[in-house]
Amino acid sequence: MKVTSAGLFALVSLLPFAAAQAPIWGQCGGIGWTGPTTCASGSTCTVGNPYFSQCLPGTASSSSVSTPSGSSTSTAPGSTGSTAPAPGSPFTGTTYFLSPPYASEVAAAAKLITNSATAAKAASVANIPTFIWLDSVSKIAPFGTYLSTASAQQKSTGQKLLVPIVIYDLPDRDCAALASNGEFSIANNGAANYKTLYIDPIVALIKQFPDVKIVAVIEPDSLANLVTNLSVAKCANAQSVYLSSVTYAIQQLSAVGVTMYLDAGHAGWLGWPANLGPAAQLFISLYQNAGKPSGVRGLATNVANYNALVAASPDPITQGDPSFDEMLYIQNLAPLLGSSFPAHFIVDQGRSGQQNLRQQWGDWCNVVNAGFGTRPTTNTGSSLIDAIVWVKPGGECDGTSNSSSPRFDAHCALSDAAPNAPEAGTWFQSYFETLVTRANPSL
Ligand code: BGC
Repeated sequence: MKVTSAGLFALVSLLPFAAAQAPIWGQCGGIGWTGPTTCASGSTCTVGNPYFSQCLPGTASSSSVSTPSGSSTSTAPGSTGSTAPAPGSPFTGTTYFLSPPYASEVAAAAKLITNSATAAKAASVANIPTFIWLDSVSKIAPFGTYLSTASAQQKSTGQKLLVPIVIYDLPDRDCAALASNGEFSIANNGAANYKTLYIDPIVALIKQFPDVKIVAVIEPDSLANLVTNLSVAKCANAQSVYLSSVTYAIQQLSAVGVTMYLDAGHAGWLGWPANLGPAAQLFISLYQNAGKPSGVRGLATNVANYNALVAASPDPITQGDPSFDEMLYIQNLAPLLGSSFPAHFIVDQGRSGQQNLRQQWGDWCNVVNAGFGTRPTTNTGSSLIDAIVWVKPGGECDGTSNSSSPRFDAHCALSDAAPNAPEAGTWFQSYFETLVTRANPSL
């Protein structure tokens, strides 16, 4: 698999947000929006949902189609709409589209590093493909810009591009922890909002670009929490909404050709012998009840975690778990899925370069002394594993260490969690610098 950097150059020429008029695919309105409300010529400002309006190609006479929720979205004349995902691994025959927001974060971070050799290594991370997290409604409009960029780039180079995304905005998100609590709550119409304000607009955008291949990780932690954390009241309360929301997401995204891997926790979570069977049953029942959407390709493991794909020897914290690394977890889970669920996997290795760092296997927050890991590749050493990937953008924080924050989680103040950590998802410069200097293989 090759990596392209042309997306970065295309981005520079688009730089949408400072313009007096919003560009095609740019945001042009919505609750809280303070930017331009008129659109570049050839596009029309169209209400996607109460939170964003977007400049869609075409004039006001462009056709209008009903989304599954019944809301109306303008679509460019000539767009072809839904398509079945191509069978097989989405990583075959494609080149990654590089994440523009991560490239910006990394470029800014590298400039802050005074040692020129380290700064050059840091800057090179922008060329390593990393997933784009759609972790709130506000990320949807920029995503439209990326699809447009990818489509144009693909047309000019003839090289098929793969846009890697994470679907991550469930109501009552992160039910067993606090650090990544999200914007929707079940008590406040979250189940309906997830569909109409989040999934439907994403699907409507993807429909505009049937030529761009998209791979998605679906809702990190959600199903794993339903396997092991139903004793937590917030998870028990969220169970049915998580199931119906994930079902809706995979059905709708499948209908527009997205290839999906459902999040499956990691070896130290669902890999324990007592959890493997219940986990397999949950994945199978969800998939079958959803009508076996063809876009579901398999499972994603180790997302935002720190485990090795293949550990040289068991880390002492794995305490006798026969699945002491991700390869073993996958090999132990796959037979339980049998032919009832597609047993293909992707494994996050973005921050797994250094091992034996933690005091407990359950420590997940900004683990000290972590280094960037194996680069994304389809050379995985297992026919079960489609690709080694970087899902968590290394340098973005796992959770704040500030105990007075409403999203403070005690895991982020443990002695093996890096101190002075900002809010989840925001940039953590010192942590990034350690990932760079401790990268294995080195950068
Ligand atoms: C955060 C998200 C963020 C993601 C990737 C999660 O822990 O809650 O906001 O997008 O990590 O950095």
